Amino acid sequence: MDVSSAISKRASIRRFKPAPVEKAKIEKVLEAGRRAPSWGNTQPWRFIVVQDKAKREELARACGGQPTVGAAPVVIVCCATIEDFTRKGHGEALKSLIPVGAMTEELMNIVLQSDVFAPYLRGDVVMTVKAGEQLMIAIAYMTLEAVNQGLGACWVGAITPKEVHKAMNLPDNIFVHSLLPLGYADEDPKPRPRKEINKIVFWEKYQ
Ligand SMILES: Cc1cc2nc3c(=O)[nH]c(=O)nc-3n(C[C@H](O)[C@H](O)[C@H](O)COP(=O)(O)O)c2cc1C
Repeated sequence: MDVSSAISKRASIRRFKPAPVEKAKIEKVLEAGRRAPSWGNTQPWRFIVVQDKAKREELARACGGQPTVGAAPVVIVCCATIEDFTRKGHGEALKSLIPVGAMTEELMNIVLQSDVFAPYLRGDVVMTVKAGEQLMIAIAYMTLEAVNQGLGACWVGAITPKEVHKAMNLPDNIFVHSLLPLGYADEDPKPRPRKEINKIVFWEKYQ
């Protein structure tokens, strides 16, 4: 399937058949997330694949009981780690950008010696926003690959991160961002409304 077809076919799927999803298909979806771009190639994402029914039901409870989560045979818990934003973690990523011409040794040293990362290391809210930026891209890629694999998915951002964190027994350095329930669709929704293109796109100047 070409990218344009996947984009136009994709819709949030909230009803799933109980059939399990083949591991190879789940892996394709995860690989799409892995291939996503990220700020300075930080790749802060961590994905936990949950198929266990009791755990999925626990996760559903941690998102205000959203039935989509409990119904999907697979739930990908989308997280980020703070380590990839530290000077040490990000330093390695920046180094990898030198050979491709996106970074020079000099600039890398300036970036690493400045306090540029400090705001991202302070507090859950800022970190969650920063990590969220990167995860959003990976999840978007994963939802498109899900379509390509004949699967449906629904981005679930309305979660209680602390409860998901607890349910998954995660260490303190891992932030929970959102969930991605995944499975074979048991619905074929019509495309949801979008704003007219001329309401959101301006050529040369905003008017
Ligand atoms: C960041 C984000 C968070 C979302 N969170 C939820 C959610 O918690 N529950 C839900 O049912 N849908 C959620 N959605 C799906 C949106 O409601 C959906 O994308 C939107 O209504 C447009 O419909 P479509 O995806 O079918 O085109 C979320 C989507 C995004 C991008």
